[in-house]
Parts: sequence; structure tokens; C-alpha cells
Amino acid sequence: MAIDVPAQPEFGEPLPVEAAPEVLAFLARRRSASALSLRGPGPSAGEIETLIRLAARVPDHGKLFPWRFLVLEGEAKAAMAEKLAVMAKNRTDAPKATAALGKFSLPPVAICVVSRIMPGDIPEWEQVLSAGAVCSTLLNAASAMGYGANWITDWYSTDEAAKAVIGVRPGDRVAGIIYIGTPAEAPLERVRPEVGRLISRPEAG
Ligand SMILES: Cc1cc2nc3c(=O)[nH]c(=O)nc-3n(C[C@H](O)[C@H](O)[C@H](O)COP(=O)(O)O)c2cc1C
Repeated sequence: MAIDVPAQPEFGEPLPVEAAPEVLAFLARRRSASALSLRGPGPSAGEIETLIRLAARVPDHGKLFPWRFLVLEGEAKAAMAEKLAVMAKNRTDAPKATAALGKFSLPPVAICVVSRIMPGDIPEWEQVLSAGAVCSTLLNAASAMGYGANWITDWYSTDEAAKAVIGVRPGDRVAGIIYIGTPAEAPLERVRPEVGRLISRPEAG
């Protein structure tokens, strides 16, 4: 695979605003792959680092970097899946919670994007939105690299004991877990909104 990605620009380097037709074509057809369809190969360590570097280039009011990345893969991820399976069995929604773990277990790589609110003047809402932007960018970057990817939360993103199993610090929130791998089959287009119905042009109130 090994796609060349430009290095991080130098601080203060001019970055001309240019049309990027390939990006528009990508956005016009991008689609998440089912997490259950994802198998190896997944991104290499170098590709994961590149994906996270790209994902961290999002708008971020106050330059607080209010997000962290937990890379879950290999034996560590398998051990987490075993612990989560025990927790799932003890839940009131045990069958559903257990079934949901397939999405955690099967993909070779999962990158958990954590929203960590930083103290100061920047509203929490804006810091959370920035974490969402990180998830979107990571999803798109992984797809643009040729991998299948899906943004999932599921019960283990909000259950405090489960969050601890995957390495989320108390007080941090999971913005999303981006599962990445090679899809067993091409995803099919899903329902999309007629955006005309979502747009209005308000007059001054
Ligand atoms: C914050 C967030 C959390 C999500 N959590 C789940 C989830 O837990 N389970 C699930 O099946 N889909 C979840 N989804 C939806 C998947 O990402 C879904 O496959 C995706 O919306 C497909 O759309 P796309 O092809 O336009 O990317 C979530 C989406 C978002 C934005």
C-alpha cells in the first residue's frame, strides 16, 4: 500500500489555498465499511502514526489539543476483548452487548479518540466538537489510504469500567473508536439526505 503523504509543514510555512478535485471526488463517494467486515491487513505502525498526524490537523479553538489517541491492536486488544466479554455477560442487555463486541474484536486496528476537556475559556462544547472533527478526519484519512474504516461507540465507550479496560482515563470521554482494516466486501451506498430540505436562508430576525 505505502502511499506517500507529505510531511508536516514547518511552523509558519505558507500553505496556499488550492483546489483539490481529488478530495472532492473522494468526498462525493466516501463510505464507511462495516466494522464486522474488517480484517487484516490493517495499517502499519508508520501508517497509524501518519493517520493520527493527519487527524490532529483539525480546527481547535484555543489550540488546546483537547483529544488523545489510544491505539488498540494485537494481543493487547485481544485481552481487552476478553475482559469486555465478561462485562457484557453481566449486563442487562447481555446478548446485544456481547454481539456488539464483534466490531471490537474483528478489525485489526482500533484507534480510540478521547475527548479531554482542557481548563480555561474555551467552551466544553467547542472542545467536544473538535474531537468529533478528529474522528471524521481520521475516518476519511484511513479510507483515503485505502482501508475500510468505521466510527463506532457502542456500550463500552460509555460504561466507566469498560472505558478503564481500554485505557480511557477517568473524566475523559470516548468521542469514537475508529476501526480500520481491509473490508471483506465493498460497502453499499446507504440512505443520504436530500440536503435541499435541510437548508434555509434566514432573513435578519
Ligand atoms: C458519534 C458516532 C457514533 C457511532 N456509533 C455507532 C455504533 O456504536 N454502532 C454503529 O453501528 N454505528 C455507529 N455509528 C454510525 C457508523 O459510523 C455508520 O456506519 C456510519 O454512520 C456510516 O455512514 P458513512 O458511510 O457516511 O460514514 C456512529 C456514528 C457516529 C457519528
